[in-house]
Amino acid sequence: MAQEIMQVSPLPPFMMNALQEADYIVHDHTHIKDPGALSKVTALVGTGAAKVDKKLLTMLPNVKLVAICGVGYDGVDVTVCKEKGIMVTHTPGVLTDDVADLAMGLVLSIGRRIPQADKFVRNGDWVSDTFPMAHKVSGARIGLVGMGRIGRTIAKRAAAFDMRIAYTGREAKSDLPYAFYKTVTALAAEVDYLVVAVPGGDDTKNLIGSAVLQALGSKGYLINISRGSVVDQPTLVQALKDKQIAGAALDVFWDEPMVDPELRRLHNVVLTPHIASATEETRRAMVTLTMQNLQAFYERKRLPTPVPECSA
Ligand code: 8YV
Repeated sequence: MAQEIMQVSPLPPFMMNALQEADYIVHDHTHIKDPGALSKVTALVGTGAAKVDKKLLTMLPNVKLVAICGVGYDGVDVTVCKEKGIMVTHTPGVLTDDVADLAMGLVLSIGRRIPQADKFVRNGDWVSDTFPMAHKVSGARIGLVGMGRIGRTIAKRAAAFDMRIAYTGREAKSDLPYAFYKTVTALAAEVDYLVVAVPGGDDTKNLIGSAVLQALGSKGYLINISRGSVVDQPTLVQALKDKQIAGAALDVFWDEPMVDPELRRLHNVVLTPHIASATEETRRAMVTLTMQNLQAFYERKRLPTPVPECSA
């Protein structure tokens, strides 16, 4: 019998194809209203952008799995899921390299002003002007906010650029040779590039605010590849306008895809549309892992990648 699932965010076409090929009946939560149909849904599928809250789960009495195609699941109310006996899965590991690659790409882009230089050539400005000098990335100081899988992988890449690496997190990691700072502010004061690599959610909301930006200072750059919610965005925009920090390279924002026009007008920023995991190879690996979680759930097998809160 075909299983009925509900998509809780837009899904890439190849994920829809995979779901259809596997014979799932896919409902869309923006269309489905009939309580009879709602009670047939046993699993939810969505990307990192999915919002799965108590209200939605209460409408779906038979849902027992939320399968997120993404490593971040901050839009899912895991506490309520656990209360209701609902398992939550995500796709860690398969996107780590891509996210770390983009983080380094953004470090280089903002430090060396690559997008601005590209624009300078395209505009024909080179004929009459000289592109201003940028800042050296090799050998500079990088600070990682968060030293999980992604933080560690960024550090490996930064080490290849001879960068001096420091980090903050819940605790110092005894296997790492990098300097540990207890607070983000203390770390920010010691680095040129502050890279945010912590999960989103209530615990990290607005973690990067005025004190951190002040500590980063007028020569420091902020890079964010985690979640927009981690940065107090209006405060960041003001700090950029006032040149309180040198610049920011952001892949994530408040209220995506609506990016604050003030931020879009600034010259000391590099902005990308939440593409850290957006390569053909990685997105396919994420979809495969999501499909494996769904299949294991319906076959009553051990779930490949439950979120830590749902791991035994
Ligand atoms: C995408 C992400 O948002 O993995 C995450 O947490 O932010 C991204 O990979 C998305 O979930 C892709 O499906």
